[in-house]
Amino acid sequence: MDLFINILLLFSACVGGFLLPLTVVNRLFSWLSDSKFKAFLEVLLYLLSFIIPVWLCWAAYSQDRTILSSLSAAPVLFLGIAPLWMTFAAYTCSDIFTHLKGKPVIPEASISQSTCPYQMRPEDPGIFMPAMNRIYQLDRTLLRIEIDGLNPGLRGLRFGHLTDFHLGKHCHRSFLKHAVDLIMAEKPDLIGITGDFVNFRKYMDDCFDDLAELAAPLGIYAVRGNHDYWVGADLIEQRIEALGFVLLDDKTLELHKDNHPFILSGTEQRWKKDPPDVDHFCSDSSLLKIVLAHTPDDFPLLVGHNPHLVICGHTHGGQVCFPFFGPVVVPSVYGRRYASGLFKEKESLLYVSRGIGCYPPFRMLCNPEITIVEFV
Ligand SMILES: [Fe+2]
Repeated sequence: MDLFINILLLFSACVGGFLLPLTVVNRLFSWLSDSKFKAFLEVLLYLLSFIIPVWLCWAAYSQDRTILSSLSAAPVLFLGIAPLWMTFAAYTCSDIFTHLKGKPVIPEASISQSTCPYQMRPEDPGIFMPAMNRIYQLDRTLLRIEIDGLNPGLRGLRFGHLTDFHLGKHCHRSFLKHAVDLIMAEKPDLIGITGDFVNFRKYMDDCFDDLAELAAPLGIYAVRGNHDYWVGADLIEQRIEALGFVLLDDKTLELHKDNHPFILSGTEQRWKKDPPDVDHFCSDSSLLKIVLAHTPDDFPLLVGHNPHLVICGHTHGGQVCFPFFGPVVVPSVYGRRYASGLFKEKESLLYVSRGIGCYPPFRMLCNPEITIVEFV
């Protein structure tokens, strides 16, 4: 019986020790501004999530080589890590409860999806666990939104959305070209890009050479994400403007489709040290209002300005999802509440795209996506 209890405690400590660093990454990291120190800390926490269980098992085993024949080892180890384990358990229980409750139906919106896989070329780098890894299984999502009182001249307005290219070794320019071709085939009236262009500066040319093929009659608009501030916000701004795209940053514009006005805003405040500047948001409730943000963490702040749609990326859908459970790690202060998909608060909709690229290059049950929003 002692052995059974010890093994149970050890197992519990290992699970807690594995998941706690992931929870820290998940819950706290969105509050920290990006820096090399943060990247180092992130890698360290991921390593810890593996090292802690291995160390616990080794410490328990090395007591007497019988993996715990007495209560001497495991309870001590367990008590050391119990508070951490309980923190994780509380978060996870609330997440699972939310997940099981399911998403409420949003009657004014419908989503259809099809997969358009990228065909790997011989020169592409190999990918980790190719049978399971979904990094090239690009989904095309069509989101139709019915808006009460929408100006009839704007019915059928098509908005193309691209986000989180993370251009690098695996999410390379051929894959981005595939995404660009797909969005152009949808003939959007305007295109919005919500940040995280490259993982490293050396991929800037590849990224912006591909993006040069984007075109839309009402223009192409962008906001920057946390990785862009890390790589160099000014450099990304220069590249965006060199292509004739509009960097929205923290601005609101009135656009027109055949002389019918609508509002497009952007926000990047989360990545700046200044207090949020929300004065520019339009309060005219008679106009269609769309907001580009990099992260869904901005949504609760934006809801107060009654946008019809906030569209963003950043979470990558969690990248690694498990059946019935969903994503484990989502870089958001709201955990996995806004991991991906459509949400509604008050009169505002939020769409969180899983993005095109990923970081690191592995996705499980979580395809990348491009999104086309049609307002009707
Ligand atoms: Fe991202």
